[in-house]
Amino acid sequence: MDLQTLIRDIPNFPQPGILFRDITTLLAHPQGLRFTIDELTRRFQGWGIDAVVGPESRGFIFGVPLAYTLGCGFVPVRKPGKLPGPVHQREYALEYGTDRLEIHQDGIQPHQRVLVVDDLLATGGTARAVGELVHQAQGELVGFGFVIELAGLGGRKQLPPAPVETLITYG
Ligand code: PRP
Ligand code: HPA
Repeated sequence: MDLQTLIRDIPNFPQPGILFRDITTLLAHPQGLRFTIDELTRRFQGWGIDAVVGPESRGFIFGVPLAYTLGCGFVPVRKPGKLPGPVHQREYALEYGTDRLEIHQDGIQPHQRVLVVDDLLATGGTARAVGELVHQAQGELVGFGFVIELAGLGGRKQLPPAPVETLITYG
């Protein structure tokens, strides 16, 4: 299935000059959604993954069904002040300024094999911060999975050395 045909391009969102790759059209397409989760599952099955970690909010959309099909748990990474228990924190770079991401300190057990999943890899700042949170929690980071990679932004170079799987690549 050609997943790229199910992604809608929205010019000048959220700012002038940005061509936004919109996944909502993929999510609304029954066969496209099923294919996406099945394909991510096929890529990571047999890796011995103990936990999928995904950042708020679009990382939840793909991370939870993937954890379900891989037969492991899902651990959310959230924006500041949302998680009720003790957290590890990581600052990360935005286009302008910084923000912070948090994970529950007991969300990952030491040495668990962890897969980081998100909808899209752009500059890599988000996924890199999530990877750092996994290390802070003493998890073993075994890979990254994305539905979309915006290769022109060079996000892969920001990530720690671990396998990266993506389903759709834009140049
Ligand atoms: C988007 C996207 C990724 C991140 C990618 O999330 O879902 O998480 O940006 O960009 P990067 O590689 O440059 O860090 P956003 O922060 O917009 O939050 P959202 O999922 O809640 O919309
Ligand atoms: N599309 C969707 N999400 C994004 C994009 C994009 O082009 N860039 C950063 N996050």
